[in-house]
Amino acid sequence: MSVYDDFNLTKDFDKDYCLQVFAPLNVAFVKGKGSYLFDQSGKKYLDMIGGIAVNSLGHNHPALTSALKKQVSELIHCSNYYYIPQRSALAYKLCRYSFADKCFFSNSGAEANEAAIKLARGYFYYKGEDRYEIITAKMSFHGRTMGTIAATGQEKFRKPFEPNLPGFKYVTYNDMDELESAVTPNTAAVMLELIQGESGVHPADQDYIKAVRKLCNEKGILLIIDEVQTGVGRTGRLFCYENYGITPDIMSLAKGLGGGVPIGATLCTAKVASGFKVGDHGSTFGGNPLACTAGNVVMDQFIDKDLLTNVGKVSSYLFSELHNLKNKYSTIANVRGMGLLIGIEFTPGISASLLRERLLGEGVLVSAIGSSTIRIAPPLNLTETDAKVFIKVLTKILKDQKKRPLSETAAYGSTAKEPGKREDYIDKELEA
Ligand SMILES: Cc1ncc(COP(=O)(O)O)c(C=O)c1O
Repeated sequence: MSVYDDFNLTKDFDKDYCLQVFAPLNVAFVKGKGSYLFDQSGKKYLDMIGGIAVNSLGHNHPALTSALKKQVSELIHCSNYYYIPQRSALAYKLCRYSFADKCFFSNSGAEANEAAIKLARGYFYYKGEDRYEIITAKMSFHGRTMGTIAATGQEKFRKPFEPNLPGFKYVTYNDMDELESAVTPNTAAVMLELIQGESGVHPADQDYIKAVRKLCNEKGILLIIDEVQTGVGRTGRLFCYENYGITPDIMSLAKGLGGGVPIGATLCTAKVASGFKVGDHGSTFGGNPLACTAGNVVMDQFIDKDLLTNVGKVSSYLFSELHNLKNKYSTIANVRGMGLLIGIEFTPGISASLLRERLLGEGVLVSAIGSSTIRIAPPLNLTETDAKVFIKVLTKILKDQKKRPLSETAAYGSTAKEPGKREDYIDKELEA
């Protein structure tokens, strides 16, 4: 027995040697195929969270696996001192299929957002304008670096690490008046998610986003859209901004772009590209041959294989079934989201973590956000047959509610957490 096949050893080593910033569920996965994961004992789980919107092609996808195997045997890494064909190819595809003219590669969502923030400030610096303020939304989530916690509109992520990076302001999401009043002559950018994923899957209003774009145009402010979670097909369009009929000036991507291989990308218009001169930004690993090979395979699934059609089809099925469940079970308060990024909010008192635990027991993986919402962000090639399995298991758990209650008080006789306040949403211990 080794740490690789003995769960108790895996757990002990984690406790002893890893910084305890996560609170993992009681399982370790060793293999995946399609939309399924297998734990150390061989038990099979339907993966409805896809590594938090990362495994866009599921697990062990033949095209991704074979391209990566080939690339590993040829060249894993090569520095940005040199031209990298895989990087050139991926940059071309991202620009060709989006609003953007230029692209910078990094390794994560936070880094993609760091580059976006720096680029916006650099743009005004080189123009000789004193603009540095970035307005972001309350309840947003942009990452864990010092720059991106400053951008994140939730004090709990910033407080322990003060002093925070200055120059950020937070306004209520979907409130145009508040945004207008926050603008000053020093405003460089407005930075928004189109769906606040980490705080409960809350989509922005169409009218709001259109009005934000208009305001930015009128005032010469840059619009940064964080598509780390919503990008690369997740919402049924290649990029979520397409659902809103606007284009950003800067967009960040990560999560699904590499299908599981770490990669981040910051895209911008030709005009904004003047914000970075040679030496202003960089990354040792960003844009390396291995990561860009993954990005190319993922993009090819949209360009050549019409993956978006599947997202639309399976999304319609899931929304329709979830709305049926909502009509049947009063414990479902709301179903929201777009494409294959869906939040299912339960009535106060129903514990999302208990529900997640029940689903895990039945071999289905989801995430719990806040006290009463579960999120699904499965592989984009999830089949309708697999989606049916999810609905069947969820229905069974909801049917059993009388016998096996989903409130912690009823289940454990202990006091349940405070019912769903929006402020409680991101569970620091549980979310990546
Ligand atoms: C919208 C958004 N931006 C940024 C991030 C940070 O990405 P990463 O964890 O890859 O740094 C996340 C992660 O959940 C996210 O959802």
